Amino acid sequence: MPENVSARARAILPFVVMDVVARAKELEKAGHDVVRMDVGDPDFPTPDVVTKAAEAAMEAGETGYTQSLGLPDLRDAVSARFASKYGITVDPCDIVVTQGTSPAMLLLFGSLLDPGGEVIMADPCYPAYPNYVNFLGGVPVRVPALAKDGFAMQPDAIRAAITPRTRCIMLNSPGNPTGAVLPSEHLAEVAAIAEGAGIWIASDEIYHGLTYGESAHSVLEFTDRAFVLNGFSKLYAMTGWRLGYLVAPREFVRPAEVIQQNFFLCANHFVQIAGVVALTQAGEDVERMRTTYDERRRFLVPALRELGLRVDVEPSGAFYVFADARCWGDDSLALSRRLLEEAFVASAPGIDFGPGGEGFLRFSYATSIERLQEGVQRLRAWATAG
Ligand SMILES: Cc1ncc(COP(=O)(O)O)c(C=O)c1O
Repeated sequence: MPENVSARARAILPFVVMDVVARAKELEKAGHDVVRMDVGDPDFPTPDVVTKAAEAAMEAGETGYTQSLGLPDLRDAVSARFASKYGITVDPCDIVVTQGTSPAMLLLFGSLLDPGGEVIMADPCYPAYPNYVNFLGGVPVRVPALAKDGFAMQPDAIRAAITPRTRCIMLNSPGNPTGAVLPSEHLAEVAAIAEGAGIWIASDEIYHGLTYGESAHSVLEFTDRAFVLNGFSKLYAMTGWRLGYLVAPREFVRPAEVIQQNFFLCANHFVQIAGVVALTQAGEDVERMRTTYDERRRFLVPALRELGLRVDVEPSGAFYVFADARCWGDDSLALSRRLLEEAFVASAPGIDFGPGGEGFLRFSYATSIERLQEGVQRLRAWATAG
């Protein structure tokens, strides 16, 4: 980046998978058929009932600003979801509606971090976490989350990473890129560590509901010293709608509200109305999508293993398989580029998720089983020819 660009902007690392997306689109434009296993963007349309609610809201003129905290109906519906799903009470006053989970991260880290404030996070993890923390002058502290430990940061390593500057521990289960679901005992243990150290937990629960075994637990079942981030993108196939929320401890709600007022004003009015409908009426659609993801998962995991890739931890949530691809090459960026250019299969390089992801490729199964079959067949042909 040119030198007259701010140091803060220069410090943000590119989200490499978005570069993969751009190159895949170029290849497609040039007439190539690319099997897209790169991004986590559901291939399902948004449930009809949600789309219709947005249309009706737009027709009714619900197109202005709302309260920065979000529509009371939506905050009530989110609170009701916490009660029905996890049996916990979340006061609607502690919920801030945002334009997706990503802006909720700005509210969270913006209200929690001073320069030098440290955030403990898994390596590998979703790349926006370290980038947000860096952008706000904080320090990401990466703790290994190894396949042999089910991609969970080990409690002793978390304890060892805590310093007087630590502000919070970031959790993400089901996880991106690993698809791993953290067991409830683990959440309880990390919650106890945070409470003992007087720090906070930030739990990104965006893949909740997309689990293929035991359901995921909310960290709020184990502690009040926690922020929860969530959004509608994945579960409801609403990535382009931009809707999410932050649950914050009471003392952080007003600061988050003020950040929201200044930077974003509010989430889209009609999208918030549709969000209420998603939470209350899209259950069958969600179950249909979840079942389909599971079928794909049950195809893809053994198929990748047959190709020689290692999938030591059976992914049981989200829609990703994080496969150790070192049998094909140690440099995950070079490897994913080769697979794209030579086999026309798009994947995400593990290095995108931190040094701990090097040697891995993330395959998304947010695409049809026919395309996954085609992708696997191309990978097989590529590996055999190479
Ligand atoms: C773990 C995780 N958090 C947050 C996001 C961003 O979600 P949103 O579309 O709600 O901003 C993603 C998107 O891939 C994700 O994987």
